[in-house]
Amino acid sequence: MDFKSLALEYKTPLYIYDFEHIKEQFESVKEAFYARKSLICYAVKANSNLSVLRYLGKLGAGCDCVSVGEIKRALIAGISKYKIIFSGVGKEDSEIAYALRQNILMLNVESEEELKRIETIAQYMKIKARISVRVNPNVDAKTHPHISTGLKKNKFGVDVDTAKRLYIYVKDSEWLEPVGIHCHIGSQILDIEPYKEATKITAELLKSLKALDIDLKFFDVGGGIGIRYKDETPIKLYDFAQAVLANLGECDVTVVCEPGRFLVGNSGYLLTKVLYEKKNGNKRFVVVDAAMNDLIRPGFYNAYHEIEAVDKEGQKVSKADVVGAICESSDFLGKNVLLPKLNHGDLLIVKSVGAYGFSMSSNYNTRPRCAEVAFIGNKYRIIRRRETFEDLIECETECLVRGNV
Ligand SMILES: Cc1ncc(COP(=O)(O)O)c(C=O)c1O
Repeated sequence: MDFKSLALEYKTPLYIYDFEHIKEQFESVKEAFYARKSLICYAVKANSNLSVLRYLGKLGAGCDCVSVGEIKRALIAGISKYKIIFSGVGKEDSEIAYALRQNILMLNVESEEELKRIETIAQYMKIKARISVRVNPNVDAKTHPHISTGLKKNKFGVDVDTAKRLYIYVKDSEWLEPVGIHCHIGSQILDIEPYKEATKITAELLKSLKALDIDLKFFDVGGGIGIRYKDETPIKLYDFAQAVLANLGECDVTVVCEPGRFLVGNSGYLLTKVLYEKKNGNKRFVVVDAAMNDLIRPGFYNAYHEIEAVDKEGQKVSKADVVGAICESSDFLGKNVLLPKLNHGDLLIVKSVGAYGFSMSSNYNTRPRCAEVAFIGNKYRIIRRRETFEDLIECETECLVRGNV
Protein backbone atom coordinates (compact mmCIF):
# COMPACT_ATOMS: atom_id res chain seq x y z
CA MET A 1 0.00 0.00 0.00
CA ASP A 2 1.15 3.50 -0.76
CA PHE A 3 0.87 4.95 2.73
CA LYS A 4 2.52 8.27 1.84
CA SER A 5 -0.06 9.03 -0.86
CA LEU A 6 -2.85 7.90 1.45
CA ALA A 7 -1.68 10.32 4.13
CA LEU A 8 -1.53 13.14 1.59
CA GLU A 9 -4.96 12.43 0.18
CA TYR A 10 -6.96 11.47 3.26
CA LYS A 11 -4.83 12.92 6.11
CA THR A 12 -4.03 11.08 9.33
CA PRO A 13 -4.92 9.31 11.52
CA LEU A 14 -6.58 6.99 9.03
CA TYR A 15 -7.97 3.46 9.06
CA ILE A 16 -7.38 1.45 5.89
CA TYR A 17 -8.92 -1.98 5.24
CA ASP A 18 -7.83 -4.47 2.64
CA PHE A 19 -11.14 -5.88 1.40
CA GLU A 20 -9.45 -8.67 -0.56
CA HIS A 21 -8.14 -10.02 2.72
CA ILE A 22 -11.64 -9.92 4.21
CA LYS A 23 -12.86 -11.93 1.24
CA GLU A 24 -10.13 -14.55 1.62
CA GLN A 25 -10.90 -14.94 5.30
CA PHE A 26 -14.63 -15.26 4.69
CA GLU A 27 -14.12 -17.85 1.97
CA SER A 28 -11.80 -19.89 4.15
CA VAL A 29 -14.46 -20.18 6.86
CA LYS A 30 -17.12 -21.05 4.30
CA GLU A 31 -14.86 -23.71 2.84
CA ALA A 32 -14.13 -25.25 6.25
CA PHE A 33 -17.85 -26.03 6.59
CA TYR A 34 -18.40 -27.01 2.95
CA ALA A 35 -19.70 -30.44 3.93
CA ARG A 36 -22.62 -28.95 5.88
CA LYS A 37 -25.37 -26.42 5.54
CA SER A 38 -23.74 -23.40 7.11
CA LEU A 39 -24.36 -19.72 7.73
CA ILE A 40 -21.60 -17.31 8.63
CA CYS A 41 -23.03 -14.45 10.64
CA TYR A 42 -20.33 -11.79 10.85
CA ALA A 43 -20.10 -10.26 14.34
CA VAL A 44 -20.88 -6.65 13.50
CA LYS A 45 -19.28 -5.33 16.68
CA ALA A 46 -15.81 -6.13 15.31
CA ASN A 47 -16.11 -3.51 12.58
CA SER A 48 -19.52 -2.09 11.86
CA ASN A 49 -18.73 0.10 8.87
CA LEU A 50 -21.63 -0.19 6.41
CA SER A 51 -19.30 -0.86 3.49
CA VAL A 52 -17.69 -3.76 5.36
CA LEU A 53 -21.15 -5.19 6.09
CA ARG A 54 -22.30 -4.71 2.51
CA TYR A 55 -19.18 -6.36 1.14
CA LEU A 56 -19.53 -9.36 3.45
CA GLY A 57 -23.25 -9.54 2.69
CA LYS A 58 -22.50 -9.79 -1.03
CA LEU A 59 -20.20 -12.71 -0.25
CA GLY A 60 -23.11 -14.43 1.47
CA ALA A 61 -22.61 -13.47 5.10
CA GLY A 62 -25.35 -12.85 7.62
CA CYS A 63 -24.85 -10.72 10.73
CA ASP A 64 -24.64 -11.31 14.45
CA CYS A 65 -25.91 -8.13 16.09
CA VAL A 66 -25.95 -7.01 19.70
CA SER A 67 -28.09 -3.88 19.50
CA VAL A 68 -30.88 -2.40 17.44
CA GLY A 69 -28.27 -0.08 16.00
CA GLU A 70 -26.33 -3.05 14.66
CA ILE A 71 -29.49 -4.66 13.27
CA LYS A 72 -30.31 -1.40 11.50
CA ARG A 73 -26.80 -1.26 10.09
CA ALA A 74 -27.10 -4.82 8.80
CA LEU A 75 -30.46 -4.10 7.16
CA ILE A 76 -29.23 -0.86 5.58
CA ALA A 77 -26.22 -2.77 4.24
CA GLY A 78 -28.60 -5.14 2.49
CA ILE A 79 -28.22 -8.21 4.71
CA SER A 80 -31.25 -10.47 4.45
CA LYS A 81 -33.37 -10.37 7.62
CA TYR A 82 -33.34 -14.16 7.59
CA LYS A 83 -29.57 -14.03 8.13
CA ILE A 84 -29.63 -11.70 11.13
CA ILE A 85 -29.22 -12.93 14.71
CA PHE A 86 -29.76 -10.79 17.78
CA SER A 87 -27.44 -11.60 20.72
CA GLY A 88 -26.57 -9.80 23.96
CA VAL A 89 -27.34 -10.02 27.67
CA GLY A 90 -29.35 -6.82 27.99
CA LYS A 91 -31.92 -6.43 25.25
CA GLU A 92 -34.36 -3.62 25.90
CA ASP A 93 -38.11 -4.02 25.26
CA SER A 94 -37.95 -1.66 22.31
CA GLU A 95 -35.06 -3.65 20.84
CA ILE A 96 -36.92 -6.94 21.23
CA ALA A 97 -39.99 -5.42 19.61
CA TYR A 98 -37.90 -4.07 16.73
CA ALA A 99 -36.25 -7.45 16.14
CA LEU A 100 -39.64 -9.20 16.15
CA ARG A 101 -41.16 -6.65 13.80
CA GLN A 102 -38.26 -7.09 11.39
CA ASN A 103 -38.79 -10.85 11.51
CA ILE A 104 -35.07 -11.62 11.82
CA LEU A 105 -33.77 -15.19 11.92
CA MET A 106 -33.62 -15.60 15.70
CA LEU A 107 -33.04 -14.01 19.08
CA ASN A 108 -30.26 -15.54 21.17
CA VAL A 109 -31.68 -15.58 24.68
CA GLU A 110 -29.31 -15.11 27.59
CA SER A 111 -31.54 -15.52 30.67
CA GLU A 112 -34.90 -16.83 31.86
CA GLU A 113 -35.96 -13.27 32.64
CA GLU A 114 -35.21 -12.19 29.11
CA LEU A 115 -37.09 -15.15 27.67
CA LYS A 116 -40.23 -14.22 29.60
CA ARG A 117 -39.93 -10.62 28.45
CA ILE A 118 -39.64 -11.74 24.83
CA GLU A 119 -42.71 -13.93 25.27
CA THR A 120 -44.74 -11.08 26.72
CA ILE A 121 -43.72 -8.73 23.91
CA ALA A 122 -44.33 -11.40 21.25
CA GLN A 123 -47.80 -12.07 22.67
CA TYR A 124 -48.59 -8.35 22.69
CA MET A 125 -47.44 -8.05 19.08
CA LYS A 126 -49.11 -11.33 18.05
CA ILE A 127 -45.83 -12.52 16.53
CA LYS A 128 -44.20 -15.84 17.26
CA ALA A 129 -40.59 -15.25 18.38
CA ARG A 130 -37.89 -17.54 17.01
CA ILE A 131 -35.62 -18.45 19.89
CA SER A 132 -32.15 -19.81 20.42
CA VAL A 133 -30.80 -20.18 23.96
CA ARG A 134 -27.20 -19.20 24.68
CA VAL A 135 -25.58 -21.99 26.65
CA ASN A 136 -22.79 -21.12 29.04
CA PRO A 137 -20.82 -24.39 29.06
CA ASN A 138 -18.44 -23.32 31.85
CA VAL A 139 -15.41 -23.86 29.61
CA ASP A 140 -12.25 -21.81 29.88
CA ALA A 141 -11.42 -20.33 26.46
CA LYS A 142 -7.86 -19.63 27.71
CA THR A 143 -7.88 -16.09 26.42
CA HIS A 144 -7.66 -12.61 27.98
CA PRO A 145 -10.09 -12.45 30.96
CA HIS A 146 -11.83 -9.39 29.46
CA ILE A 147 -12.82 -11.41 26.38
CA SER A 148 -13.59 -14.75 28.01
CA THR A 149 -17.33 -15.40 28.04
CA GLY A 150 -17.94 -19.11 28.56
CA LEU A 151 -17.33 -19.48 32.28
CA LYS A 152 -19.90 -19.62 35.05
CA LYS A 153 -18.44 -16.43 36.53
CA ASN A 154 -19.13 -14.58 33.25
CA LYS A 155 -22.44 -12.81 32.72
CA PHE A 156 -23.26 -14.60 29.48
CA GLY A 157 -25.82 -17.30 28.74
CA VAL A 158 -27.33 -19.92 31.04
CA ASP A 159 -26.04 -23.28 32.27
CA VAL A 160 -27.00 -26.51 30.52
CA ASP A 161 -29.74 -27.51 32.97
CA THR A 162 -31.36 -24.08 32.84
CA ALA A 163 -31.12 -24.11 29.04
CA LYS A 164 -32.94 -27.44 28.90
CA ARG A 165 -35.68 -26.13 31.17
CA LEU A 166 -36.03 -23.01 29.02
CA TYR A 167 -36.39 -25.07 25.84
CA ILE A 168 -39.19 -27.11 27.42
CA TYR A 169 -40.87 -23.84 28.35
CA VAL A 170 -40.38 -22.47 24.83
CA LYS A 171 -41.82 -25.60 23.26
CA ASP A 172 -45.02 -25.23 25.25
CA SER A 173 -45.39 -21.52 24.64
CA GLU A 174 -47.83 -20.23 22.06
CA TRP A 175 -45.57 -17.23 21.33
CA LEU A 176 -42.13 -18.79 21.25
CA GLU A 177 -40.58 -21.16 18.76
CA PRO A 178 -37.33 -23.02 19.49
CA VAL A 179 -35.15 -22.86 16.38
CA GLY A 180 -31.53 -22.78 17.46
CA ILE A 181 -28.94 -23.34 20.14
CA HIS A 182 -26.05 -20.98 20.78
CA CYS A 183 -22.69 -20.98 22.51
CA HIS A 184 -19.90 -18.40 22.38
CA ILE A 185 -17.02 -18.90 24.80
CA GLY A 186 -14.79 -15.91 24.09
CA SER A 187 -12.61 -14.06 21.66
CA GLN A 188 -9.06 -14.43 20.27
CA ILE A 189 -9.13 -18.18 20.97
CA LEU A 190 -5.92 -19.94 19.93
CA ASP A 191 -6.52 -23.38 21.39
CA ILE A 192 -8.84 -25.91 19.81
CA GLU A 193 -9.58 -27.79 23.05
CA PRO A 194 -12.04 -25.27 24.53
CA TYR A 195 -13.99 -25.35 21.24
CA LYS A 196 -14.08 -29.15 21.34
CA GLU A 197 -15.30 -29.14 24.91
CA ALA A 198 -17.91 -26.42 24.41
CA THR A 199 -19.35 -27.88 21.21
CA LYS A 200 -19.49 -31.33 22.80
CA ILE A 201 -21.56 -29.98 25.69
CA THR A 202 -23.82 -27.98 23.37
CA ALA A 203 -24.25 -30.86 20.91
CA GLU A 204 -25.18 -33.22 23.73
CA LEU A 205 -27.88 -30.81 24.80
CA LEU A 206 -29.07 -30.52 21.19
CA LYS A 207 -29.42 -34.31 21.02
CA SER A 208 -31.17 -34.58 24.37
CA LEU A 209 -33.64 -31.92 23.22
CA LYS A 210 -34.35 -33.89 20.08
CA ALA A 211 -35.26 -36.82 22.30
CA LEU A 212 -37.84 -34.50 23.89
CA ASP A 213 -39.23 -33.69 20.46
CA ILE A 214 -37.56 -30.29 20.40
CA ASP A 215 -36.05 -30.24 16.97
CA LEU A 216 -33.66 -27.34 16.46
CA LYS A 217 -32.56 -26.19 13.02
CA PHE A 218 -29.51 -24.05 13.85
CA PHE A 219 -26.39 -24.97 15.81
CA ASP A 220 -24.59 -21.70 16.51
CA VAL A 221 -21.00 -22.14 17.65
CA GLY A 222 -20.35 -18.43 18.16
CA GLY A 223 -17.19 -16.64 17.08
CA GLY A 224 -13.85 -16.18 18.75
CA ILE A 225 -11.37 -17.63 16.24
CA GLY A 226 -8.04 -15.99 17.05
CA ILE A 227 -5.65 -14.30 14.64
CA ARG A 228 -1.94 -13.55 14.54
CA TYR A 229 -0.96 -10.18 16.01
CA LYS A 230 2.65 -11.06 16.82
CA ASP A 231 3.75 -14.67 16.91
CA GLU A 232 0.54 -16.49 17.81
CA THR A 233 -0.36 -19.71 16.01
CA PRO A 234 -4.03 -19.51 15.06
CA ILE A 235 -6.05 -22.71 15.13
CA LYS A 236 -6.58 -24.38 11.78
CA LEU A 237 -10.04 -23.80 10.40
CA TYR A 238 -10.22 -27.44 9.41
CA ASP A 239 -9.69 -28.41 13.07
CA PHE A 240 -12.29 -25.88 14.14
CA ALA A 241 -14.85 -27.25 11.71
CA GLN A 242 -13.98 -30.81 12.68
CA ALA A 243 -14.45 -29.98 16.37
CA VAL A 244 -17.97 -28.89 15.53
CA LEU A 245 -18.91 -31.49 12.95
CA ALA A 246 -17.53 -34.47 14.88
CA ASN A 247 -19.81 -33.62 17.79
CA LEU A 248 -22.82 -33.10 15.59
CA GLY A 249 -22.66 -36.49 13.92
CA GLU A 250 -25.82 -37.11 11.94
CA CYS A 251 -27.81 -34.19 13.39
CA ASP A 252 -29.51 -32.38 10.55
CA VAL A 253 -28.77 -28.79 11.49
CA THR A 254 -27.38 -25.70 9.81
CA VAL A 255 -24.10 -24.75 11.46
CA VAL A 256 -23.96 -21.05 12.27
CA CYS A 257 -20.74 -19.34 13.24
CA GLU A 258 -20.16 -15.73 14.22
CA PRO A 259 -16.58 -14.74 13.44
CA GLY A 260 -15.68 -11.09 13.82
CA ARG A 261 -11.97 -10.64 14.45
CA PHE A 262 -11.03 -13.51 12.12
CA LEU A 263 -12.74 -11.91 9.14
CA VAL A 264 -11.52 -8.34 9.50
CA GLY A 265 -8.72 -8.14 12.10
CA ASN A 266 -5.66 -8.57 9.91
CA SER A 267 -7.19 -6.52 7.10
CA GLY A 268 -6.81 -3.21 8.92
CA TYR A 269 -4.02 -0.63 9.21
CA LEU A 270 -3.99 2.55 11.25
CA LEU A 271 -1.86 5.19 9.58
CA THR A 272 -0.58 7.85 11.93
CA LYS A 273 1.80 10.80 11.72
CA VAL A 274 4.65 11.54 14.08
CA LEU A 275 4.23 14.79 15.98
CA TYR A 276 7.29 14.75 18.18
CA GLU A 277 10.00 12.60 19.60
CA LYS A 278 10.75 13.25 23.27
CA LYS A 279 12.83 11.79 26.05
CA ASN A 280 12.07 11.64 29.75
CA GLY A 281 15.46 10.72 31.17
CA ASN A 282 16.49 7.69 29.14
CA LYS A 283 12.95 6.82 28.12
CA ARG A 284 12.16 7.52 24.48
CA PHE A 285 8.63 8.48 23.40
CA VAL A 286 7.24 8.95 19.93
CA VAL A 287 4.14 11.12 20.12
CA VAL A 288 1.74 10.53 17.22
CA ASP A 289 -1.55 11.99 16.00
CA ALA A 290 -3.51 8.78 16.73
CA ALA A 291 -4.41 8.02 20.32
CA MET A 292 -6.33 5.66 22.58
CA ASN A 293 -9.59 7.21 21.37
CA ASP A 294 -8.73 5.83 17.91
CA LEU A 295 -7.39 2.46 19.09
CA ILE A 296 -8.10 1.51 22.67
CA ARG A 297 -6.99 -2.12 22.55
CA PRO A 298 -3.38 -1.52 23.74
CA GLY A 299 -4.50 0.59 26.72
CA PHE A 300 -7.54 -1.53 27.48
CA TYR A 301 -6.23 -5.09 27.11
CA ASN A 302 -2.51 -4.45 26.85
CA ALA A 303 -3.00 -5.79 23.32
CA TYR A 304 -0.02 -5.94 21.00
CA HIS A 305 -0.08 -4.37 17.53
CA GLU A 306 2.95 -4.37 15.30
CA ILE A 307 4.08 -0.82 14.49
CA GLU A 308 6.34 0.04 11.59
CA ALA A 309 7.81 3.27 10.25
CA VAL A 310 6.95 4.00 6.61
CA ASP A 311 9.89 4.06 4.19
CA LYS A 312 12.62 3.74 6.83
CA GLU A 313 13.86 0.24 6.11
CA GLY A 314 17.39 -0.59 7.12
CA GLN A 315 17.86 2.32 9.53
CA LYS A 316 19.31 1.96 13.00
CA VAL A 317 16.53 1.38 15.55
CA SER A 318 16.01 1.80 19.27
CA LYS A 319 13.12 1.17 21.64
CA ALA A 320 10.36 3.75 22.06
CA ASP A 321 6.86 3.94 23.44
CA VAL A 322 4.42 5.14 20.80
CA VAL A 323 1.91 7.39 22.54
CA GLY A 324 -0.97 9.71 21.74
CA ALA A 325 -1.93 13.14 22.97
CA ILE A 326 -4.58 12.03 25.50
CA CYS A 327 -4.21 12.81 29.18
CA GLU A 328 -3.96 9.18 30.36
CA SER A 329 -0.93 7.02 30.90
CA SER A 330 -2.88 4.19 29.25
CA ASP A 331 -2.81 6.24 26.04
CA PHE A 332 -0.27 4.23 24.12
CA LEU A 333 -0.32 2.29 20.87
CA GLY A 334 2.82 0.30 21.54
CA LYS A 335 5.53 -0.09 24.15
CA ASN A 336 9.21 -0.71 23.54
CA VAL A 337 8.72 -0.61 19.79
CA LEU A 338 11.91 -0.76 17.76
CA LEU A 339 11.88 2.37 15.63
CA PRO A 340 14.40 4.50 13.71
CA LYS A 341 14.96 8.17 14.49
CA LEU A 342 11.74 9.93 13.55
CA ASN A 343 10.92 13.48 12.64
CA HIS A 344 7.75 15.53 12.63
CA GLY A 345 5.60 14.34 9.72
CA ASP A 346 7.07 10.84 9.43
CA LEU A 347 4.48 8.10 9.17
CA LEU A 348 3.88 4.97 11.23
CA ILE A 349 1.51 2.13 10.50
CA VAL A 350 -0.16 0.15 13.25
CA LYS A 351 -1.11 -3.29 11.94
CA SER A 352 -3.98 -5.75 12.43
CA VAL A 353 -6.43 -3.13 13.63
CA GLY A 354 -9.41 -4.12 11.46
CA ALA A 355 -11.32 -5.63 14.38
CA TYR A 356 -12.27 -3.75 17.55
CA GLY A 357 -10.29 -0.78 16.26
CA PHE A 358 -12.54 1.88 14.83
CA SER A 359 -15.64 0.21 16.31
CA MET A 360 -14.26 0.79 19.83
CA SER A 361 -13.09 4.31 19.07
CA SER A 362 -14.49 7.31 20.87
CA ASN A 363 -14.47 11.08 21.03
CA TYR A 364 -12.58 11.23 24.31
CA ASN A 365 -10.79 14.56 24.71
CA THR A 366 -13.18 15.94 22.04
CA ARG A 367 -11.18 14.28 19.32
CA PRO A 368 -13.08 13.71 16.08
CA ARG A 369 -12.93 10.08 14.95
CA CYS A 370 -10.78 9.49 11.92
CA ALA A 371 -11.71 8.53 8.36
CA GLU A 372 -11.88 4.97 7.03
CA VAL A 373 -10.71 3.90 3.61
CA ALA A 374 -11.25 0.61 1.77
CA PHE A 375 -8.58 -0.84 -0.50
CA ILE A 376 -10.62 -2.72 -3.04
CA GLY A 377 -9.88 -3.77 -6.63
CA ASN A 378 -6.55 -1.90 -6.49
CA LYS A 379 -8.34 1.34 -5.64
CA TYR A 380 -8.85 3.30 -2.46
CA ARG A 381 -12.33 4.41 -1.54
CA ILE A 382 -13.40 6.49 1.40
CA ILE A 383 -15.99 4.56 3.40
CA ARG A 384 -16.36 6.97 6.32
CA ARG A 385 -15.43 10.61 6.27
CA ARG A 386 -13.43 12.16 9.07
CA GLU A 387 -15.60 13.65 11.80
CA THR A 388 -15.59 17.39 12.32
CA PHE A 389 -15.78 19.37 15.51
CA GLU A 390 -19.33 20.33 14.48
CA ASP A 391 -20.30 16.63 14.32
CA LEU A 392 -19.15 16.22 17.90
CA ILE A 393 -21.15 19.08 19.39
CA GLU A 394 -24.26 18.72 17.23
CA CYS A 395 -26.39 16.96 19.86
CA GLU A 396 -25.43 19.52 22.48
CA THR A 397 -25.94 22.61 20.33
CA GLU A 398 -29.49 21.41 19.63
CA CYS A 399 -30.08 21.67 23.39
CA LEU A 400 -28.50 25.10 23.54
CA VAL A 401 -30.76 26.33 20.74
CA ARG A 402 -33.76 25.01 22.66
CA GLY A 403 -32.56 27.14 25.55
CA ASN A 404 -32.00 24.32 28.03
CA VAL A 405 -29.30 26.26 29.90
C1 LIG B 1 -22.04 -13.49 20.83
C2 LIG B 1 -20.78 -13.16 20.11
N1 LIG B 1 -20.57 -13.71 18.91
C3 LIG B 1 -19.46 -13.43 18.20
C4 LIG B 1 -18.48 -12.59 18.69
C5 LIG B 1 -17.28 -12.32 17.84
O1 LIG B 1 -16.09 -12.69 18.42
P1 LIG B 1 -14.77 -12.64 17.58
O2 LIG B 1 -14.61 -11.28 17.05
O3 LIG B 1 -13.71 -13.00 18.54
O4 LIG B 1 -14.90 -13.65 16.49
C6 LIG B 1 -18.65 -12.01 19.94
C7 LIG B 1 -17.61 -11.14 20.49
O5 LIG B 1 -17.57 -10.70 21.58
C8 LIG B 1 -19.84 -12.30 20.67
O6 LIG B 1 -20.05 -11.76 21.87
